[in-house]
Amino acid sequence: MRVRLLGTAAGGGVPQWNCACDGCARARAAGVNRTQDCVAVSGDSRAWFLLNASPDLRTQLAATPELAPGPGRRDTPLRGVLLSTAELDHTLGLLTLREASALTLYGSGCVLNALAGPFPMQPILAQYTTLHCTAIEPGAAIDLDGGLRAQALTVGSKRPRYAEGLPGDDWVLAYRMSDPRTGGVLVYAPCLPAWSPAFAELIADAGCVILDGTFLHEDELRRCTGGGGTATSMGHLPIEVSEPLLPRRTETRYMYTHLNNTNPVAVPGTALRLAAEVPADGTSFEL
Ligand code: MLT
Ligand code: MN
Ligand code: ZN
Repeated sequence: MRVRLLGTAAGGGVPQWNCACDGCARARAAGVNRTQDCVAVSGDSRAWFLLNASPDLRTQLAATPELAPGPGRRDTPLRGVLLSTAELDHTLGLLTLREASALTLYGSGCVLNALAGPFPMQPILAQYTTLHCTAIEPGAAIDLDGGLRAQALTVGSKRPRYAEGLPGDDWVLAYRMSDPRTGGVLVYAPCLPAWSPAFAELIADAGCVILDGTFLHEDELRRCTGGGGTATSMGHLPIEVSEPLLPRRTETRYMYTHLNNTNPVAVPGTALRLAAEVPADGTSFEL
């Protein structure tokens, strides 16, 4: 399985366009630019799937040779998108994909419902492309073009702000992507509100776990801005809590993504010893 991190920032990116906080100022001074969270995966280097659709998708695709179009004039290796949430920073990029001749979208029933109603991405996209939406049942495995297998675990029930009041519990998914040919396993959990026994089981045989790195500290927003909720109240287990919980397996790489602009580890130079990596946009590897 080939994996490429297209973007590694939380909503707004690092630096955020309208933010002059210390972290954003440090990022600007250091020339750091983290685009919003998105991962590309492929089992055969020909058919690629996105995990989430970042608002920065056009720039991310342009920076990714593996996702260049061809050989036919309108051929693309991009087969579909698996959504972990219906949040705007994970779904706005779907609009950017409207030029595709066909697009397959996977998400929980709740997420697809949000994209049919309060954020009418599905009816809008269906006017531009042939859209296939497939609801993912948590626990069930889906075989993808190119040989990868996807399995979802519900890790949270936080709805996007625009979807308050919508029914259902499966609002936040983690994905376990496996490659039956190599035995490679990737777990992708950019939004992880708590470390549950089911999540521990999901990552038990993973070669790489991409984890929620939104915040370093539980009270980070208050520290940085003087206000705002705690990390866990916003559905994001902070690194200071998750990092000590990482199983110390030498055969597993742990990476933090979905970094908020308040998070000191989003900009290199933070003196902190972590048992996990904080990869830059464009990081690629095989499993
Ligand atoms: C989140 O990750 O909690 C959301 O994307 C927050 C937001 O930007 O609305
Ligand atoms: Mn987000
Ligand atoms: Zn900022």
